[in-house]
Amino acid sequence: MSDRPRLLPLLGATRHGSRDAMTCLYRCGNACDHPVPNTSDNTYFGDLVESEVSRRGVVRAGAVGALVLGFGAAAGALAGAAPASAAPGTPVVPEVTDFGRPPPSVGSGALTFTPIPPNQLDTLVVPNGYGHAVVIRWGDPVVPGAPEFDLHGQNAAAQSKQFGYNNDFVGVLPLDRRGRRALLVVNHEYTNEDLMFPGFTSLDSLTEEQLRTAMAAHGMSVVELERVEGTGQWRPVSHGRRPYNRRVTALSTRFDLTGPAAGSAWLRTAADPKGRTVIGTLNNCAGGVTPWGTVLSGEENFNQYFVGGDAVSEAEKAKLARYGISTTARYPSGSRRWERADERFDLAKNPNEANRFGWIVEIDPFDPESRPRKHTAMGRFKHEGANVIVAKSGHVVAYMGDDERFDYLYKFVSDKKYMPGDSWVARKHNLTLLESGTLYVAQFEQTSAAEIDGSGRLPSDGAFNGRGRWIKLVSGNRSYVDGMTAADVLTFTRFAGDKVGATKMDRPEDVQPSLLTGKVYAALTNNTDRGKAGKAPADETSPRNLNKHGQILELVEDRGDNTAESFAWSLPIVCGDPTDPSTHFAGYDKTQVSPISCPDNVAFDATGNLWISTDGNALGSNDGLFATAVEGPERGHLKQFLTVPLGAETCGPFITGDNRSVFVAVQHPGEITGASVEKPASTWPDGDYAKPGVVVTWRLDGGPIGS
Ligand code: FEO
Ligand code: CA
Ligand code: CA
Repeated sequence: MSDRPRLLPLLGATRHGSRDAMTCLYRCGNACDHPVPNTSDNTYFGDLVESEVSRRGVVRAGAVGALVLGFGAAAGALAGAAPASAAPGTPVVPEVTDFGRPPPSVGSGALTFTPIPPNQLDTLVVPNGYGHAVVIRWGDPVVPGAPEFDLHGQNAAAQSKQFGYNNDFVGVLPLDRRGRRALLVVNHEYTNEDLMFPGFTSLDSLTEEQLRTAMAAHGMSVVELERVEGTGQWRPVSHGRRPYNRRVTALSTRFDLTGPAAGSAWLRTAADPKGRTVIGTLNNCAGGVTPWGTVLSGEENFNQYFVGGDAVSEAEKAKLARYGISTTARYPSGSRRWERADERFDLAKNPNEANRFGWIVEIDPFDPESRPRKHTAMGRFKHEGANVIVAKSGHVVAYMGDDERFDYLYKFVSDKKYMPGDSWVARKHNLTLLESGTLYVAQFEQTSAAEIDGSGRLPSDGAFNGRGRWIKLVSGNRSYVDGMTAADVLTFTRFAGDKVGATKMDRPEDVQPSLLTGKVYAALTNNTDRGKAGKAPADETSPRNLNKHGQILELVEDRGDNTAESFAWSLPIVCGDPTDPSTHFAGYDKTQVSPISCPDNVAFDATGNLWISTDGNALGSNDGLFATAVEGPERGHLKQFLTVPLGAETCGPFITGDNRSVFVAVQHPGEITGASVEKPASTWPDGDYAKPGVVVTWRLDGGPIGS
């Protein structure tokens, strides 16, 4: 389009590394303009000695959903199932059960698609032989009776029933054994008012109704899907009761706080003197589907929604600052002005309100009447997401990243054991698993410390690798951190990590265990402050200074036990242009791999291939989705599967358990400085103005992804 403000620059003309300045403003409140919150001088691993480590309501019965089973692949015992469209209040058991074990193989697992090239096209690009379609976009109806989207007549009530803005996490949970129906569960991370409201001039000029509309466009959506007959394509069910369809918002949805910090003094406010109920969820980024059929969602850059940090007590200021909330300006750069519509976002009036965000949220999509919960036992930080595996012992283990430069990697181990099966008793039990347990933070050691010079040059032992340990922070009500109570540790978890010498990482994003191998993969997206004066230098987990492109970490728990307190680790992929000598693709022939930059979300297909989506490609291409084997001779053979339109980020991804469908969320299309509704930088998906949306891709011949 000739009237586009400007095209995405090919190389590095954006303000914050690879991201457009508009994304910086809306996505994370210009985080890069603010000081790195981690000013601790805790031990980074260059200092370590290597030898040191050695429903109520609809679903009353039945385990539900499927992490990677289902879609015809689940052969487990099934409960007698009532029709899933039964009225709320009627027990309904989705016909898919038992997913606390590795999935069956679907196809050989070989990634046979022809990789697509990097590009800057304003469209979704997939390999030859694949189809793609928009499943749902911003403004589409979710709750039955939702009004049609009216661009010029947006309001909070309508948006509270429509699909929210800037979809991020995508989960698809089967509703039946035949693979015909499923629930789509999506996060809506943040809004971009420049691109939402016609005639936008400034955040200060937004009406209160527009601010409330933005709050309603945050949160989550649950949408019932049906398969387009005989294909890997899915679409929303557009008729009938759709009892599961639901919006969760930052505006009005109530959440229960669970776990040891619930009710503590840190979480009490004038509006909630007991400290046990929070209105809304903020900046929900990635997440995970649990083995018991719920969805976890990470509250990430919650700091940007609060003002007034300059007016709190000195003791409070330190706590706010460690979480990236400005304590020197009432209105830090990037703040959203929500306090004009709801004064709880003004810390001068409600100093504890910020403590009520930054948690892992659990929602039961099969119980539309259920109140979502924020689990304090899993700690408070800028949660990217959480992914769960059932350990050999039966305890459930959640892996989590704190997405900030120089922040940490965590895991949670439940006190109770997962109860398999589809009884009502099992489901009720499993819904409590994340309410009590042990929280750990990771400390890494290296094998080649003397050879790490910040260039990314591979050490002489042929690997960026080492061992590491999980440092116990808190277990139930017992704190293991000097001077901090359990509630302190859980509410101000970053300080606990500082005190015990956790390893400073390059922005830990999505962390996910493979259900086939138990090995854990983390996307470390980038850290352009690495090695700068006064900041932690390169180490073996973060081997490049001024790290623009990020890396993938593989973590192998000792004895294959996900509850273990020690592990081995390596970096199978150090991202970038493969012609760049600082890149590494597990030793695979670099002439055969696709360039990749800024890994963000990770997922697995049913055969255990690792899929990686990117955020902020610093090589000039649109963001995309990539896949590689992680075992065998194809390990490191990374191939690009798709790209998203101009200005967008690739979120999700989610591959269905039958390996027939790949879902991605196209987040912030057209988010390029100067763009507006009237002058869009992208016209995806409908040819008029940019709208975030969820896309499904499938093989046109009906075969599996990775045949
Ligand atoms: Fe919302 Fe860490 O990306
Ligand atoms: Ca090494
Ligand atoms: Ca992310």
